[in-house]
Amino acid sequence: MIGKLNHVAIAVPDLQQGTAIYRDTLGARVSQPQALPEHGVTVVFVELPNTKIELLEALGEKSPIAAFIEKNPAGGIHHVCYEVDDIMAARDRMIANGARVLGDGEPKTGAHGKPVLFLHPKDFCGTLVELEQV
Ligand code: CO
Repeated sequence: MIGKLNHVAIAVPDLQQGTAIYRDTLGARVSQPQALPEHGVTVVFVELPNTKIELLEALGEKSPIAAFIEKNPAGGIHHVCYEVDDIMAARDRMIANGARVLGDGEPKTGAHGKPVLFLHPKDFCGTLVELEQV
C-alpha cells in the first residue's frame, strides 16, 4: 500500500548549521526555513534527485523535537515518510492491523500542505513513520 519514500527527517540542534552541512559540505539544494507551529518544528527540505531530506529544529515550548535532541545532542534520524494515495484508507488499515496512530488519529496538514499522520515507532520496527497523502 505505501508508495514512494517521500523524505527522511533528521532532527538537528541548529537548523542553520544543518543547512550549511547539506548545502556547503554535501553540495545539495536546501529550501528556505519554514515554521510549522502546529507541529512544533521549523523545517528545511534538502532536494535530492530521488527523494528529500527534511531537517527539523525544535520550535516552541512543547516541541516533539526537544526531547529527541536531549537524548541525541548531535541530532539523528527522526522519522521516515512514505506516500499513500488515500490517507483515511491507510489509517483504517493501520488500526485494523493493531497499529497505533499518534495524536487524535485525524490527519494534520504537513510541511507540503498535504494531509499527514504519524504512526507509533513501537509498531514499526522502532521507527517513527509519517504517512503523507500525495
Ligand atoms: Co516529515
